[in-house]
Amino acid sequence: AIRGNFFDIAACVENPQQLNEQLRHIPDGLLLLNEGAIVWFGSWQQGEPLLPPGFEVTHYRDKLIVPGFIDTHIHYPQTEMIGAYGDQLLAWLKHYTFPTESQFCCERHAGKMSAFFLQQLLSNGTTTALVFGTVHPQSVEALFSQAAALNMRLIAGKVMMDRHAPDELLETPEQSYRQTRELIERWNGKQRLGYAITPRFAPTSTPALLAQVQRLREEFPDAWLHTHLSENLDEVAWVKALFPESNSYLDVYHQYGLTGEKSVFAHCLHLEEQEWDCLCQTGSAIAFCPTSNLFLGSGLFNLQKAWQKQVKLGIGTDVGAGTTFNMLQTLGEAYKVGQLQRYKLSACEAFYHATLGGARALALDDKIGNFAVGKEADFVVLDPAVSPLQKLRHENSRELADQLFLLMTLGDDRNVYRTYVDGKVVYRMAAHQEAA
Ligand code: GUN
Ligand code: FE
Repeated sequence: AIRGNFFDIAACVENPQQLNEQLRHIPDGLLLLNEGAIVWFGSWQQGEPLLPPGFEVTHYRDKLIVPGFIDTHIHYPQTEMIGAYGDQLLAWLKHYTFPTESQFCCERHAGKMSAFFLQQLLSNGTTTALVFGTVHPQSVEALFSQAAALNMRLIAGKVMMDRHAPDELLETPEQSYRQTRELIERWNGKQRLGYAITPRFAPTSTPALLAQVQRLREEFPDAWLHTHLSENLDEVAWVKALFPESNSYLDVYHQYGLTGEKSVFAHCLHLEEQEWDCLCQTGSAIAFCPTSNLFLGSGLFNLQKAWQKQVKLGIGTDVGAGTTFNMLQTLGEAYKVGQLQRYKLSACEAFYHATLGGARALALDDKIGNFAVGKEADFVVLDPAVSPLQKLRHENSRELADQLFLLMTLGDDRNVYRTYVDGKVVYRMAAHQEAA
């Protein structure tokens, strides 16, 4: 059992105004766990009599406990190339990304980087992620086996691509089909793992590859579909040139049956009206990646429009185009993207997108995203004030909304005190930091 100051959003909403009714703040709360599942959640006062005598209670004083963060778009093989200087998307892929990803043909390298990557997620309070591998099946094999050992809820897939990349990263459509199929059969639905069919994006896919993607999608309706959409203006123009018969960028995917529930499209910065409508009508989801969009100079995501069009939305860090694994920092950048368009992103809305909203985008809102009874016990214990500056600012912010907003403005991995996955502590702040 866990005692402390809890915050979550009780149910999915259709507009930001509804968040006020769904916001749950229990300053002295109790969370009862059994075998990684939440069996009771409420106030300490109500819950304490339910506890058997001598039952172990971990009490987190002066902390804030929130659902584990959900990163709806990230590339694990790009961890080691974060902060690559000087290019926008297409040149960045060529100069930095493809050479980095080529190294994942080596199993040992994939194993080492998987371990580092998962540690980065957990030390930043991220308990679920939708992850790109590389074209090499061994890249996701390594990641899945390590995530299985932690019993994490993680979705990943090997990249599928058959043109416009260096030869060593290309495959034939048949090879891509076969290797993906084997991975789905091995990993999709094993423990808490899921498989995402992952065509990189339209420009690295021939029509023949997309046809194989469609075949997999039809054969494995339980699997996810994860790709990039409308990130950069040069990319959008290139897609129009490569697929002249399609009405829009999204239409390329839509024609191959790749839209729908469990389809997640990263970025979506330069959509036309009909693409927004198609996303909504098909129940597809968007991963908004603010640090990446700013870092690569790709554009500003329109949060207002996503609500208007009722498109499901999660937040992605998009490491390594994104510049941090940390969801608090990512939300702070999302706020600034809003500011540049006169959209006021409240802390409550931001935390919703990073937790329950993200869960909904991944069609996992029956399993994760808040402290509802029956859900899986993935959560983060945040220390709201660790640095001298945070402490100074914290002293005059009594309201929860102010404290959350300060966390997104000044917070980072130093604020992550404990991370729980499946009811167990999987990350603990180092003792020397705790004392400081
Ligand atoms: N579009 C195609 N591949 C990539 C990638 O690796 N990162 C980003 N940000 N966009 C992409
Ligand atoms: Fe990406």
